[in-house]
Parts: sequence; C-alpha cells; structure tokens
Amino acid sequence: MDDELIKRAADIIANSKKLLVFTGAGISAESGIPTFRGQDGLWENYRVEDVATPEAFLRNPRLVWKFYSERRRKALSVKPNAAHYAVARLEKLFDDFLVVTQNVDDLHRKAGNKKLIEIHGNLFREKCTACAFIRNSESSYEEPPLCPDCGAMLRPDVVWFGEPLPEKEINEAFDFAEEADTVIVIGTSAIVFPAAQLPFIVYNHGGKVIEVNLEPTPVTDIANVSIFEKCGIVLPKILDEIEAIL
Ligand code: OAD
Repeated sequence: MDDELIKRAADIIANSKKLLVFTGAGISAESGIPTFRGQDGLWENYRVEDVATPEAFLRNPRLVWKFYSERRRKALSVKPNAAHYAVARLEKLFDDFLVVTQNVDDLHRKAGNKKLIEIHGNLFREKCTACAFIRNSESSYEEPPLCPDCGAMLRPDVVWFGEPLPEKEINEAFDFAEEADTVIVIGTSAIVFPAAQLPFIVYNHGGKVIEVNLEPTPVTDIANVSIFEKCGIVLPKILDEIEAIL
C-alpha cells in the first residue's frame, strides 16, 4: 500500500472542520456480508425486481420476507470490522461529523457511531403497509407478519428500488454535504442515486473527496485521493496518522 496516499488522506481529514463519511456495502464486506454488485454479489443470485421493489412485495410478500429474513440472520451473525471501528474513532475526533450509510445492516451503530443517517433504512425495523405502526425486530418470518394495530401486512423498513428516500434523512444528509469540508467515500459503487450524489455535492462547493475502494468508481474522477485497497486495512492506518497529527 502507498503510505504517501495514506498520509495525504490523513492530512486532508485532519485539516477538516466538518467531516462527512459516506459508506456502502463494501465497508461490511470484510465482516462477511456480501456486497450487491460484482462477483458473488447479492444481485447475482437474486433479481432486484423479485425481492427489492414495491411491486415484488405486492406480488409475493412471502418471498420478499424470506429474502429479508435471510439478510437479517446473516447480519446478526457477523460483527463490525476494523473499517467500522475506524469510522467510530473518527466520530470521537470531530465535533461536526456525520456518517451517511446506504447499508441497512446496523454495523455502524454496533461499532459505536451515533451521528448516523441510514438513508436506505434499517434491516431490523419493520413498518405497517397501511398505518403508522413501526417496530424494531430481529425475527425471521416464514409468513409475512401482521400489524398488531390494524392487521395489515408489515414490511421491512428499507428503501426499495423505485421508492423515494426518507425525506428527513435525505434532507439532513444533503444539507450536511452542502457545507462539508471533506467527504470520505468508502466501499460504494456510487451508482445508485440520489444517495450517490453526496460526494458530488461536496466536490461542487469546493470540498475535498477521499475514496477507499477496491476499484475505480465514478467518484474516482472527482477524488483528491483514491486508495484502492481493502478498507479494513486502509482506514485504521489513516486513523493512526490522523491521531498523530491532531
Ligand atoms: P455495491 O455492491 O454496488 O458496491 C460495493 C462496492 O464496495 C464496490 O465498489 C466494491 O469495489 C467495494 N468493495 C468491496 N469490498 C470492499 C472492501 N473490502 N474495501 C473497500 N471497498 C470494497 O454496494 P453499494 O454501493 O452499497 O440499495 O450499493 C448501493 C445500493 O445499491 C445499496 O444500498 C442497495 C443496492 O442495490 C438498495 O437496496 C436501495
């Protein structure tokens, strides 16, 4: 790994006042959770339109719940990795700080992050398809669970393709990005919009962009520093450098 790149990334971050971290499935890969795209990606084994759209749920709620029950079991069986813990260390160093994750696996919270927006929802929440009922749950279901208030079907509280992002969360995330000095983009293919706009918002107002991924992405074009290596290896090193500077 190029130590010079680690140092450059650490310098940029250490000199930032308002710091955004934007993460995708790649940050959880070293915990053992499959990413969506690429070899062995979730979307290689499932069709998005069968399990991750509102239409899929209307057509076959049992299959959709089976898919999300499996993902729950997987997420419950793993732990945060060194990259999650490095991001939790960052939150302790910066007052003006936010993690925006596209992940629904809860691992950032388990690693200790509190300033966290999950713009694609959370695997361990479920909500009513008819009323405002919402609850946390780690259950696996053979049959779709029913709302204890109104009897309608419950669904996972995640964002499916074709659905808008939760308004409060996306507004907060975009407002933060508008003023962030730096964004660290970790483990995302950065192709699913509007979430993937965040690094571009930071770049457009003159903020710095640091990327950690295994391979180039659309963010690479606007990045001040790109490091192509496993984030569980890179991020702890960046944090050691930052802590030495601050
Ligand atoms: P993807 O599966 O599209 O991308 C994962 C990225 O992580 C790829 O760019 C990999 O190169 C990178 N990666 C894999 N392992 C890594 C590692 N150890 N260290 C660093 N990088 C690594 O996942 P997302 O970008 O999160 O949306 O996908 C975005 C959205 O599309 C998801 O939130 C989900 C999905 O379909 C919804 O379900 C709405």
